[in-house]
Amino acid sequence: MDKVAQLQQWVKESRNIVFFGGAGVSTESGIPDFRSVDGLYQQKYAYPPETILSHSFFMAKPEEFYRFYRDKMLYLQAKPNAAHLKLAELEACGRLKAVITQNIDGLHQAAGSKKVLELHGSVLRNYCQKCGKFYEVQAILQSQGIPRCACGGIIKPDVVLYEESLDEAVLEEAMRCIAQADMLMIGGTSLAVYPAAGLIYGYHGRRLVLINRDPTPHDQKADLLIPGKIGEILSQIKTA
Ligand code: APR
Repeated sequence: MDKVAQLQQWVKESRNIVFFGGAGVSTESGIPDFRSVDGLYQQKYAYPPETILSHSFFMAKPEEFYRFYRDKMLYLQAKPNAAHLKLAELEACGRLKAVITQNIDGLHQAAGSKKVLELHGSVLRNYCQKCGKFYEVQAILQSQGIPRCACGGIIKPDVVLYEESLDEAVLEEAMRCIAQADMLMIGGTSLAVYPAAGLIYGYHGRRLVLINRDPTPHDQKADLLIPGKIGEILSQIKTA
């Protein structure tokens, strides 16, 4: 049976699918990923992007952080692609229970997914560090230099930076969903960053599907390994 046909078969038989994805799910929406050859981390800046996107850099050089962040981390014109839409369809027909994402672009919710666990936060949520006031992403886009709250505090995106810990409650919920899944679909992620990548160990079923353009360190764990573009592959899956 060909790989997409096998995927279709398992989707048809499953009622508790969980999807776990990364930046590769949004590249077909025009948002570059991080570690591919044309990814963000391969481009040259005064400092490595992983340094800029860290807690200590944000605290020490907020102006430089925001110059990079506004330029390279905000893609508000991006639209959900076939992968996002199919996952939302699978949830709507009761087969898929949760999307767990490392992405911060909000495209799963924009596609209609209801249960989305954002392990690394979202650019759409921003808070004053001093008084906690919420700000829409427009407050970041429409300001110059360091975005400040009315109270004078610096506004910070609700995005997990390097050196920062994930929201424990979100991580625990993600682990619970994976432990209960009858099928785990992982896609568009290099599985290079922990603790997110560690979620794969929490699945004990026999329908672990890995859909990725490039090889990952966990390929041999997949019960079904489908190299390729996840939007193209998922668009072939029928939900009815
Ligand atoms: N279809 C399938 N796979 C794709 C596609 C696509 N259209 N486009 C890219 N990929 C794959 C690449 O082959 C790569 O293995 O997606 C993966 C993206 O990997 P990364 O760029 O490392 O992104 P991600 O895994 O999400 O990174 C995890 O690292 O920097 C941190 O916080 C950041 O959330 C991010 C985390």
